Amino acid sequence: MESQAKGLLKLVNERKINRNTKFLAVASGKGGVGKTNFAVNFAYILANDFNKRVLLIDADIGMANVHILVNVNTKKTLKDILNGEKIEDIIFTTRNFDILPGFSGIDAINEVEDSAVFRFVQNLNDISENYDYIIIDTAAGIDNKVISFIRASSKTYVITTPEPTAIMDAYALIKSMKKLYDYSDFKIVVNMAKNEEEGIETFERLRASIKKFLDTDIKLAGVLPATKNIQKTVKKKQIISEVFPSEKFVLQLRRIAADEVGEPPPPVKESFWEKVVNFLRKD
Ligand SMILES: Nc1ncnc2c1ncn2[C@@H]1O[C@H](COP(=O)(O)OP(=O)(O)O)[C@@H](O)[C@H]1O
Ligand SMILES: [Mg+2]
Repeated sequence: MESQAKGLLKLVNERKINRNTKFLAVASGKGGVGKTNFAVNFAYILANDFNKRVLLIDADIGMANVHILVNVNTKKTLKDILNGEKIEDIIFTTRNFDILPGFSGIDAINEVEDSAVFRFVQNLNDISENYDYIIIDTAAGIDNKVISFIRASSKTYVITTPEPTAIMDAYALIKSMKKLYDYSDFKIVVNMAKNEEEGIETFERLRASIKKFLDTDIKLAGVLPATKNIQKTVKKKQIISEVFPSEKFVLQLRRIAADEVGEPPPPVKESFWEKVVNFLRKD
């Protein structure tokens, strides 16, 4: 009996430690707005610029692509965990952060029960003590699986672009979560903005609708510019934060990460090539 009680106490204490782990979901209404690029680079920055222990979970069930962006081949995925395998055996490490890879295919979506995802989310506490941040890259839209991941997160970064359709879909996502679960821990990221003004205008439009119809206020996390260097790096299976660390997109993302962590942004770094280019420019 006594040892059982001790066991229970240990569990309670562990849970206390686990409370320090922050779960952050990355979501959007519309697809193709930059969720995965945000999630991968955010994980990279938290780990490499802020020395945080980070796990990135690819929870885009059916359309997983985090492992492609970081250029790692994986045999086992989240699907194996949902089928009962141990999470520790499936996580891999790259660039100082951990990734739990996802899986693709229409069969995969149909095969996975919402209840299996729900159980997985509940059990995440078991590994959370190893991490300061667990970032969850979700699928577009708002099905029950996405809802499970958002509800487990203390904050959800909603990614939108300035396109009216993306704003509408972001609004629909926020509305559903607010009405169904009274969840409103959202921060908005406007991605692919032409400039800061367009980004802020986009945010204010979304904010006004949310205030008017949902009687809730939301905050802007930041504006990320459209940049060809994203596509360039994606094609080469590189991470923009790693190869173009002084690019505006990366600086803005670092600012968002600094806010998240509650520390000032780190000094600007230049990659070897950026140093060369800037040196030549100065001449
Ligand atoms: N700031 C940006 N500037 C230019 N292209 C971007 C930017 N962010 C994302 N992209 C491109 O948009 C496409 C969708 O990005 P992705 O992160 O896969 O979106 P999602 O996960 O929301 O579907 C990709 O081709 C990506 O390279
Ligand atoms: Mg994605």
